[in-house]
Amino acid sequence: MTKENLSAERLKFIKPSAIRRMIDLSAGMKDVIHLEQGEPDFITPEHILEAAKKAMDEGYTHYTQTQGLLELREAVSEKLSRENGIDVDPKTEVVIVSGTQETMAITALAFLNPGDRALVLDPYYPAYFEDTLIAGAVPVPVPLDEEEGYRVDQEELEKRVDSRTKLIWMCSPSNPTGHVFTKQDLETIVEVAKKHDLLIFSDEIYEKLIYDDAKHISIGSLPGAEERTITVNGFSKAYAMTGWRIGYVAAKGALAKEINKLHYYMVLCPSSVAQKAALAALTGPQDCVEKMRQEYDRRRKAVLKELDKIPEISYVRPKGAFYVFPDFSKLERDDETLAKELLNKTHVCTAPGSGFGEGGGGHLRISYSAPYDQVITGISRIVESLEEK
Ligand SMILES: Cc1ncc(COP(=O)(O)O)c(C=O)c1O
Repeated sequence: MTKENLSAERLKFIKPSAIRRMIDLSAGMKDVIHLEQGEPDFITPEHILEAAKKAMDEGYTHYTQTQGLLELREAVSEKLSRENGIDVDPKTEVVIVSGTQETMAITALAFLNPGDRALVLDPYYPAYFEDTLIAGAVPVPVPLDEEEGYRVDQEELEKRVDSRTKLIWMCSPSNPTGHVFTKQDLETIVEVAKKHDLLIFSDEIYEKLIYDDAKHISIGSLPGAEERTITVNGFSKAYAMTGWRIGYVAAKGALAKEINKLHYYMVLCPSSVAQKAALAALTGPQDCVEKMRQEYDRRRKAVLKELDKIPEISYVRPKGAFYVFPDFSKLERDDETLAKELLNKTHVCTAPGSGFGEGGGGHLRISYSAPYDQVITGISRIVESLEEK
């Protein structure tokens, strides 16, 4: 028996991450500029680091409740009520998790039976698709029309719903497009969810990174959405805390209870020190978040200015997160080929768009979460190389 024969059936359906593949290809190359990953270049703000150090000194080195420390759940509940218009009971309706990523596997396993269907707005964050498969369910991409600015179309959603459809996965601001859904888009999703009794998984991890005239609205705050929305968020992006592995999920009564049941068997509890750091992040000064947002905005504008030099490149102006998702198909239809070509020729690493669903074909996801100089050098090298095409 070979090792491969020992693998579970479900692994045959799971695709390795396109981003990881590019990172592996770039290993060993010199002077590579990494624009493929959504990794803030900032160090976690000082007051958060101090809170973690203090927590360790005070002996916060033990398991906590599975749901997380009550004081952190209370801070999350207050934040959601104050900023997002979502009211949840910190005792029973908030679960602190080991990174937002954990909530996707838990949601899929908690609410999808084998054969159930889950709609995924395409382009999508890959974990929604893969975790649906892991649960034995069927991910059903709903293409968002780029020419229509990624507007959500009720008909497109509804024609993919059947009696086995249970859930809609969504993310706003979006990874990979940087698009921020409007209130009207969100209302369309809620209407379909209500009509067909679907759950909504709303990933709001980029909510603090918003630009131009965009406004973040939590779908769970819209009428009729409260009972069916699983709102998830984390500290990785807003507070530059990717390595701390800490996030949260908020959902009404029975939903949160089921999530917590699985959470126990997955992780037992989130890191105690990271929870104390997250508490400081939520309750401490927020000017650090705004400073980082402004710097991302500066990079975003510079990247778009460079891209605009090539008329064959098109994109929906990103107003959130730290990604731009240009369509390069007029220059090269195969995004994998283009990403590899750019890596080899210019030593700039990007993420091929098809890793984010069919709607990403011919696109590259370019992250501007790297330091300004690297972002500018990287994007200039890409543009120069494409000008020669
Ligand atoms: C949309 C989205 N959700 C979740 C995550 C993972 O977040 P966390 O670090 O909280 O697990 C990412 C990371 O890139 C992301 O882009």
